[in-house]
Amino acid sequence: MDLVNGSQEAPQESLDTDMESFFETAPPLRDGLDISRKLGEFIELNSPPTGERIVCVTSGGTTVPLEQRCVRYIDNFSSGHRGAASTEYFLKAGYAVIFLHRRGTCQPYCRSLPEDSLLECFELTEESSVQGVFNVKCDIEKHLNSHLSQAVEQGLLLKLPFTTIFEYLQILRMVATSMKSLGSRGMFYLAAAVSDFYVPWESMVEHKIQSASGPLDMRLAQVPKMLSMLRKEWAPMAFCISFKLETDSNILLKKADMALRKYKMHMVVANELLSRKEEVTVVTSSGRITVRRDKNEADADVENPLIKLLEERHSTYIQESNTTN
Ligand code: PMT
Repeated sequence: MDLVNGSQEAPQESLDTDMESFFETAPPLRDGLDISRKLGEFIELNSPPTGERIVCVTSGGTTVPLEQRCVRYIDNFSSGHRGAASTEYFLKAGYAVIFLHRRGTCQPYCRSLPEDSLLECFELTEESSVQGVFNVKCDIEKHLNSHLSQAVEQGLLLKLPFTTIFEYLQILRMVATSMKSLGSRGMFYLAAAVSDFYVPWESMVEHKIQSASGPLDMRLAQVPKMLSMLRKEWAPMAFCISFKLETDSNILLKKADMALRKYKMHMVVANELLSRKEEVTVVTSSGRITVRRDKNEADADVENPLIKLLEERHSTYIQESNTTN
């Protein structure tokens, strides 16, 4: 595969043009009107006097289809655990959450469900009946899902699924422009693993690529970074946190520092693939803060102290924005 390497810095005008052409050529969302209606209702419900703060949590990886009638695609790694756990802690902290997630990835309040069928967790003895085991299974699922359905029913959680990079960026733009009216009360927590390269829709083959034609030679274009657009145009007053994932710890913090400055993020959460569930480093303009999970508690998550820190910083940001405006 021939990657059109995007390591050089692109000037701002060319980024804007790339962004425009990305949206103009992307296949339109099938349920765009429905998403727009849901977003409008959710934001109205969670705006003063009934609601206060809204966070958009992005979670899971985007795919890049290689064929229009997609059989093959390139995927970005993310189990969705970070996004799902963070959503739970944001809800606990009093936020309303727009959970923009990859279909089929980890969901809030369902993280502890085993991957295998729950039925396999129960040993059948001569006394236990299959019906009895099934009832226990239903009770457990009901218990775990009750938090989830409560949050959805109370209008505090809006779940929007995506699969491809085309869907993700179009929905993110809709969410961001709808949240613009919230000003500093809005937050973006961009934990999704977003594709850096893609095949533009108009240059994508329609049918399944044939292996009989020999080795695959394909040119991938660079996905425009939407972080600058988010800060400059879509929701300029929102509190923005992006993530930086690396597998090489020697370059992680340098790259997170760069992202903070280049995209004018309020915070960048730097994490290394292998230790991401143990600790993260939050990079801010005033320094770096290491956040670790509490090792004394077996089920403790790193997202618990992380979201506490972000909530505090967001409060300060709202106060400062109110006094300067
Ligand atoms: O889901 P888990 O298994 O729990 O793992 C969590 C995680 C490791 C995926 C998560 O913590 C994380 O680090 N997510 C970001 C991973 C990533 O894609 O990093 P990146 O260096 O490619 O992108 C950095 C930032 O730029 C991201 O906030 C992304 O939203 C943004 N981006 C990326 C590509 C692009 N074209 N435009 C963007 O704006």
